[in-house]
Amino acid sequence: GMKNITLVKHTLIDHSLTILRNKNTSTAEFRRHAGIISKILILEATKDLALADVKIFTPLAPFIGKKLKDRVVVVPVLRAGLAMLFALHDFLPSVSVGFIGLERDEKTAQAREYYQKLPRIFSSHKVFVIDPMLATGGSFDDTITALKIKGAKQLTVVSIVSAPEGIERLQKKHPDVPIFTAAVDEKLNDRFFIVPGLGDFGDRYFGT
Ligand code: PRP
Ligand code: URA
Repeated sequence: GMKNITLVKHTLIDHSLTILRNKNTSTAEFRRHAGIISKILILEATKDLALADVKIFTPLAPFIGKKLKDRVVVVPVLRAGLAMLFALHDFLPSVSVGFIGLERDEKTAQAREYYQKLPRIFSSHKVFVIDPMLATGGSFDDTITALKIKGAKQLTVVSIVSAPEGIERLQKKHPDVPIFTAAVDEKLNDRFFIVPGLGDFGDRYFGT
C-alpha cells in the first residue's frame, strides 16, 4: 500500500484539475486554475506547522494568540515549480526560497541540473519542495538528495499530478519525505509523460 502520501481531495481541485487536463484550455485559464490547486495543496501541506504563543493587544484587551514558529524554506523545481511558488507567497510571504533548475532529457527523462542557489538550511527548517509534475520522480529525487546534502532533515514534497512510478521511487529512496498531491494518475507513457496527465506543464503554464 501507499505510505506517507496524502491525496488531497477538494471539490475545487476536481473542478480546476479538469480544466488543466483539457487540451483546449488557454494559457490564462491554465495559470488561474494552477494557482487555485496550488493554494489548496499548500494549505493542506502546511496544516501542521508549529505555532508559538504570542501576546498581542486587540483594541479591547490583551490576547494570547499564535504565530508561526517553524522556519520555512521553499524550493521550487525550475521551471514549472514557479507556478506553485506564486500561489504560496500569498500564505507565506516571508519564506526563504531556494532554487534548483533541472531539465529532463527528452529521450531518457534523466534530469540534468543547470542551476542551484540555496539558502543556508538547518535541520530545524521545514523544507517544501514544489513541482507540479511527479513523473519518473527523477527531478524530485535529485532535488531532495541535494537538499539533504545541504543539511535538510524535514522535507515535504508537494505536486499536482503524480505517476505511480514516481511515487514508488520517492517512497523507496526517501521514505522520510511525505508527499502531498492532487492526483495519482494511471502510468507513464514511453516518453515518460504522465497518462492521462495534462501534457507538458511548463510549456502550458508559460505559453512556450
Ligand atoms: C518537468 C516537470 C518536472 C519534471 C517531472 O520538467 O516540470 O520538473 O519534468 O519529471 P520527472 O519526475 O520524470 O523528473 P521539465 O524537465 O520538462 O522542465 P520545465 O519545468 O522547465 O518545463
Ligand atoms: N513533465 C511534465 O510537464 N509532464 C509530464 O507528463 C511529465 C513530466
